[in-house]
Amino acid sequence: MDNALRLVMLLVLLAKVYPSSNAHDFEHCATTVKQWASSSLHSDSKDGHILKDLLFFLHVPRTGGRTYFYCFLKKLYSSSLECPRSYDKLHFDPRKRNCRLLATHDDYSIMSKLPREKTSVVTLLRSPIERVFSAYEFSLEVAARFLVHPNMTSAAKTSARLRLKKGVISTLEIWPWKYLVPWMMEDLFSRRDARKIKGPPYTYGNDSYNMKEIVMPLHEFINHPVALDIIHNGATFQVAGLTNNSNKWDAHDVRHCVMTHQTLGKYVLEVAKKRLDDMLYIGLTEEHKESAAMFANLVGSQVISQLSASNPVTEAGNNTLTAEAQSENMTVEKLMETYGTCVSKLRSSQSKRRINSFKRISPANFTKEARLHVSEAILKKITSLNALDVELYKHAQKIFARQYQVMELKLLDSDRPGRWQSKSYISFTWEILYLILFISLLFFIYLYVNAKRRMSKLKI
Ligand SMILES: *[C@@H]1O[C@H](CO)[C@@H](O)[C@H](O)[C@H]1NC(C)=O
Ligand SMILES: *[C@@H]1O[C@H](CO)[C@@H](O)[C@H](O)[C@H]1NC(C)=O
Ligand SMILES: *[C@@H]1O[C@H](CO)[C@@H](O)[C@H](O)[C@H]1NC(C)=O
Ligand SMILES: *[C@@H]1O[C@H](CO)[C@@H](O)[C@H](O)[C@H]1NC(C)=O
Ligand SMILES: *[C@@H]1O[C@H](CO)[C@@H](O)[C@H](O)[C@H]1NC(C)=O
Ligand SMILES: *[C@@H]1O[C@H](CO)[C@@H](O)[C@H](O)[C@H]1NC(C)=O
Repeated sequence: MDNALRLVMLLVLLAKVYPSSNAHDFEHCATTVKQWASSSLHSDSKDGHILKDLLFFLHVPRTGGRTYFYCFLKKLYSSSLECPRSYDKLHFDPRKRNCRLLATHDDYSIMSKLPREKTSVVTLLRSPIERVFSAYEFSLEVAARFLVHPNMTSAAKTSARLRLKKGVISTLEIWPWKYLVPWMMEDLFSRRDARKIKGPPYTYGNDSYNMKEIVMPLHEFINHPVALDIIHNGATFQVAGLTNNSNKWDAHDVRHCVMTHQTLGKYVLEVAKKRLDDMLYIGLTEEHKESAAMFANLVGSQVISQLSASNPVTEAGNNTLTAEAQSENMTVEKLMETYGTCVSKLRSSQSKRRINSFKRISPANFTKEARLHVSEAILKKITSLNALDVELYKHAQKIFARQYQVMELKLLDSDRPGRWQSKSYISFTWEILYLILFISLLFFIYLYVNAKRRMSKLKI
């Protein structure tokens, strides 16, 4: 009896020491996630509104970050100020001292390799449903380009060659596309092979998002384990530093725990929200004009003054640090102008590529009209699969509104008020809205006071 009791106690003890038998059971997970959260909640910045030496652009895939990179950041920072391109953790080289700009799809865990107290973080967020649609369509767009090849073997050869090309970073190397594109590519080829075997007549239906003879239907895509691994709640995981691409060894355990036990998601969300609070800037893909104006005014202006201070033009009229100082003579107004033309160029070339690529999977074509026919059930499913991102996005919207007010105050304070009104990029709807709100508030106060007075008269 005594021995049996001892054995039981020993087993209990062993189970505590070696929890691996069921590494993702709830209790183990709760401890893991809570520990991770409390160690991640420390505050990094005292004054989050001041640009520090290094700007880290945490690029969440499919938020429009490419336009920020090419049309803002590349116009401000010369290539020599850019940290080694690091769209994959294997490429990140933190040894380049004095680099000023890091733009990558890496998650927040890369901060552990950066000088934390000297780093400002900026990011863009997008409404989760839009982001998921865009990830689906972009994976297909890139994969469909390989359909020029007669078979998967031949396509795989080309993609391997593209990966090895020196000096060029191909989409196929960049997380998460390095998983999503080959997956879609294989799928497109197998559907094409199946069509060949079956032969005509073909009946495709008219719903591009559910055309299983040609492409993986959207509902299949969103419910697939790969999408669960790298798309859903992707923004939250990236800001928390918990993506499938994380640098931290413990991140993978935490992520699996949160995916297995959804109630633990709140700890991750808390960390992600806190990190957004501490960022220098947050843009919203949905509010692109306002976001761009805010970027130029809150970040661009600081980059310009920082670089011109640290990079004085010598008497000889040339620069000590960089040969091609993009920021020379740059102003916020010029930056906005440059951004405007750059964005429209980039968009038109992107849309050409997209149309050309989708020709290969015709009649599937992912247009705005086609999207209107996606069922409510699928949209609901995407929302529920992205519950953390939905909450994070709401939080980002609040921060955005607050930052926008900060910008307005700064611009009112600035000695050049004309700058604000003269720019057509900035929509005036916000100001008008505030004015209307303010006037109606005054009106209601007036009504209320009047009514009260009448009431008190009646009482007397
Ligand atoms: C795939 O295509 C290449 C190039 O046309 C051809 O040489 C090869 O035999 C094909 N492979 C298969 C398995 O059909
Ligand atoms: C496809 O056709 C059906 C019936 O003809 C129609 O109700 C539906 O709206 C169409 N869907 C699309 C995406 O055009
Ligand atoms: C990340 O996700 C992809 C797709 O599901 C998977 O192939 C890969 O092994 C994952 N990587 C890690 C480190 O979990
Ligand atoms: C920059 O200035 C240095 C001297 O300060 C001079 O030797 C050099 O030729 C100048 N370079 C250019 C491009 O003007
Ligand atoms: C910058 O402005 C100065 C004076 O306004 C001008 O002489 C110089 O050419 C400008 N440089 C560039 C690169 O535009
Ligand atoms: C797909 O839709 C776009 C409009 O969004 C159109 O320009 C393009 O021609 C269409 N492609 C095909 C193959 O029908």
